[in-house]
Amino acid sequence: MTKTKMNIGIDRISFFTPQHHMELSELADQHDIDINKYHIGLKQFSMAVPSPEEDIVTMAANASYRVIQGVDPESIDMLLLATESSIDQSKSAGIYVHRLLELPENCRVLEFKQACYGATGALQLAMSHVRENPESKVLVIASDVARYQRDTAAEATQGGAAVAMLVSANPRMIVLEQATGVYTRDVMDFWRPNYLSEPIVDGKYSCEVYLQALECTWQQYCKKTGDSIEDFYAFCFHVPFSKMMFKALSRLEEMEAISDEQKARLHKLGETAVGYNKIVGNCYTASLYLSLVSLLENSPRNLTGKKIGLYSYGSGCTAEFFSGRVMFGYEKHLLVDQHLNMLKKRDALKYKDYLRFHDAYIGVAKGAGHELGVFERNRYLFKGVDNHKRIYEVNENVYDF
Ligand code: COA
Repeated sequence: MTKTKMNIGIDRISFFTPQHHMELSELADQHDIDINKYHIGLKQFSMAVPSPEEDIVTMAANASYRVIQGVDPESIDMLLLATESSIDQSKSAGIYVHRLLELPENCRVLEFKQACYGATGALQLAMSHVRENPESKVLVIASDVARYQRDTAAEATQGGAAVAMLVSANPRMIVLEQATGVYTRDVMDFWRPNYLSEPIVDGKYSCEVYLQALECTWQQYCKKTGDSIEDFYAFCFHVPFSKMMFKALSRLEEMEAISDEQKARLHKLGETAVGYNKIVGNCYTASLYLSLVSLLENSPRNLTGKKIGLYSYGSGCTAEFFSGRVMFGYEKHLLVDQHLNMLKKRDALKYKDYLRFHDAYIGVAKGAGHELGVFERNRYLFKGVDNHKRIYEVNENVYDF
């Protein structure tokens, strides 16, 4: 008997980013750097700066709140939270999120880690789970604060955000294809030992390995599917800084013949796909999915039926190339207004305030309380640490943020 292929993929998707950001011109002025280095060299304009009241749990819960509206909570039987800026070595951050969102007790919760690749691994597990349990829905969340040491080249590539995706059968937004290309190699391009609050990064080497892994995953993917670059309408890549998206695109174009027309379209849509990343900054495992939201919400043309290539890279390293097809009617489920409002309401920090936030955050990471005041614009808040226990609260008055 032939088995009918079940469509599985992203039913809803939303992102959340902190309510403060800093323009990179502040950093350029401070370090006497030509702003074009950031605006043209990295294609970055500003970076999200989390306040001490925001962490991977609150960002994850705030992003998820939007995607689960109107969904029967009982249908969500798995929550997978991917992060590389975890708050605990044992307890999964997803358990706090599970409680804040009031999800059912019959739910499996896990935390995923493999640098910026984690959410893609979580997405693959979610798809397998739904394939076996077609009635189930899985909440996959990518949530990260990208923080580097101050006064380093990487400082301009900080940021933070969470992307929440509801994975289900017969998804309303994107069907993900099963065939993928994967790649793993033991390299030391970026890592954070347990005793450090910020990562060690060999930035230029990480860009090189990112591109090598792209070649390998692309070749394996094409061998399995018979696809070529001409089969894709647009690409989304892991975006540690927006220029990387164009380096990745150029690498694919070097590998295959491509018409001038398609090249022009891919680059134009590339700009659309980094629209949010340019002003949010790096958000590690969430960055590929932030790019996907940016493409879906800002594409000048309706994307129904279009094939999108997706490339996920996590230092260390594991990478994966996969693809999705946009569903008819997807645009009805976009949360464009909410996302644009959230970005519009952000407060711009001056350099001296950025320093206070940066240092206070590290203090909290080491178990201290915080005294920076209360920024109760978000629904889910981190209130501090009591007896080594993190305290989270729901601000019930905030439901549209
Ligand atoms: N006007 C325009 N462009 C300028 C410029 C100016 N005044 N000054 C420099 N640039 C360009 C450089 O030519 C370079 O572009 P290119 O990469 O296309 O050659 C770019 O700006 C970056 O400058 P560069 O001096 O080469 O690098 P850097 O020392 O500032 O480091 C990173 C850049 C990305 C390596 C660093 O920010 C980093 O380590 N980030 C974290 C790690 C990371 O994101 N890794 C990615 C893979 S996961």
